[in-house]
Amino acid sequence: MTKSRPKQGKSVFVRTYGCQMNVYDSERMTGLLKPLGYDVTAEPDDADLVILNTCHIREKAAEKVYSELGRLKKLKTAKHKSGSDMSIVVAGCVAQAEGAEITARAPQVDMVIGPQAYHRLPELLARAARDSGDVLETDFAVEEKFDRLAEREADGPTAFLTVQEGCDKFCTFCVVPYTRGAEVSRSVDAITAEARSLARQGVREITLLGQNVNAWQSAPPSGEAGAPWGLGELCRRLATIDGLERIRFTTSHPRDMDDGLIAALGDEEKLMPYLHLPVQAGSDKILKAMNRGHTAEHYMGLIKRIRDARPDIAISGDFIVGFPGETDEDFEATLGVVEEIGYASAYSFKYSRRPGTPGSTMPKQVAEDVKDARLARLQALLESQRAEFNGAQIGKVLPVLFEKSGRYEGQLIGRSPYLQSVHVTAPQSLLGSIATVRIEGVTPNALAGKLTTNDEAAA
Ligand code: SAH
Ligand code: SF4
Ligand code: F3S
Repeated sequence: MTKSRPKQGKSVFVRTYGCQMNVYDSERMTGLLKPLGYDVTAEPDDADLVILNTCHIREKAAEKVYSELGRLKKLKTAKHKSGSDMSIVVAGCVAQAEGAEITARAPQVDMVIGPQAYHRLPELLARAARDSGDVLETDFAVEEKFDRLAEREADGPTAFLTVQEGCDKFCTFCVVPYTRGAEVSRSVDAITAEARSLARQGVREITLLGQNVNAWQSAPPSGEAGAPWGLGELCRRLATIDGLERIRFTTSHPRDMDDGLIAALGDEEKLMPYLHLPVQAGSDKILKAMNRGHTAEHYMGLIKRIRDARPDIAISGDFIVGFPGETDEDFEATLGVVEEIGYASAYSFKYSRRPGTPGSTMPKQVAEDVKDARLARLQALLESQRAEFNGAQIGKVLPVLFEKSGRYEGQLIGRSPYLQSVHVTAPQSLLGSIATVRIEGVTPNALAGKLTTNDEAAA
């Protein structure tokens, strides 16, 4: 709970929706505002500035923004009555997709800023204060954005780091190519500088982010010759940074999973044995209609090669049920792929028609009740696989990176290499470091275990 405090500087409240890249972007926005005197507050009630960092991926995600804006309108009106003010900024993918429609529908919004324009937040705030009109900024200029962001402050032992942004794949269900723009990769120099700075501040694990993270490609670092680097080479370079113990990356696309990256997963110890590789559907007809650019067989062959390189790797995925034209038989093919692969975790969704995407106007849209029934079956199967994967950890000794205190006195919560949450009784001094834990039990959402003794850890 936040205590009300005497007001000195200004305060900003940020609500983040959607994917991890939005989490990263929100962090960068609060970083930009700090030098302007804005402290982060946990509740909108006492904020001078409210930023909604939005997601447009499914209808429900986009609608949440408008209901939140409804609540904020009341708050803003109440503040006006009491003689104070509150500015409302809509950032992120809804801002990019809907632009001026937002201020038309929700006049309480002062500013609409797309994902590639938020580095300009300070000057836009100044402009809004000067002219009293609405501000709309939705240009694409990714390189410039990253160049203009200040050095980051780490917050705990794990951090996200955006290395690639945008998407050229144009899956027919998806808004991301329109909201995040074309694929752009940051340079090795920029990424290593950010990772080094994080490591110096105590970050032990970084997750490299990109809408198609494994499409990342860039010239070698300055002063080094050679062909362009892929994500595998980037990970190997980051693994040489002192203090950085774990590297993850997400989200990968099956079409960009090259041999260099598979080899790195096989032999670079700091790369964690966990891969999020969405397939979306198991029927080749549906994969084609989705414009995924690969077949189910290609995907399964890829997973086999990855498992040959790193046998203990945990596979995660995304699935969509009820894409236009999906028959019972097509859906059975999705279940077949899931049975074949065996997922450690997964996200699954009902197809949502997104305005402007080719899928939204395709014939043979699937009825909502059919989507519901398919989603329930798929989720039951995925859940049983997750439980099986978690159960299989019992008795194992796993390195755990402790991230935060648990709900109970003396309890810490950390992550296994496979991204499972692990609850352990452990001293606070272990926060931010890795220790080995013998896994003794599973709860629905976590593993539980005990710190090993030195002899056990060495064994
Ligand atoms: N860039 C990533 C993630 C994209 S969005 C990738 O290519 O995998 C995350 C997930 O949301 C997608 O993998 C997909 O499963 C889901 N998704 C995207 N658009 C959707 C839509 N219109 N309806 C339902 N789910 C959708
Ligand atoms: Fe969307 Fe497909 Fe691009 Fe992923 S690869 S962001 S699902 S268009
Ligand atoms: Fe959503 Fe945009 Fe991420 S649409 S999933 S916030 S890229």
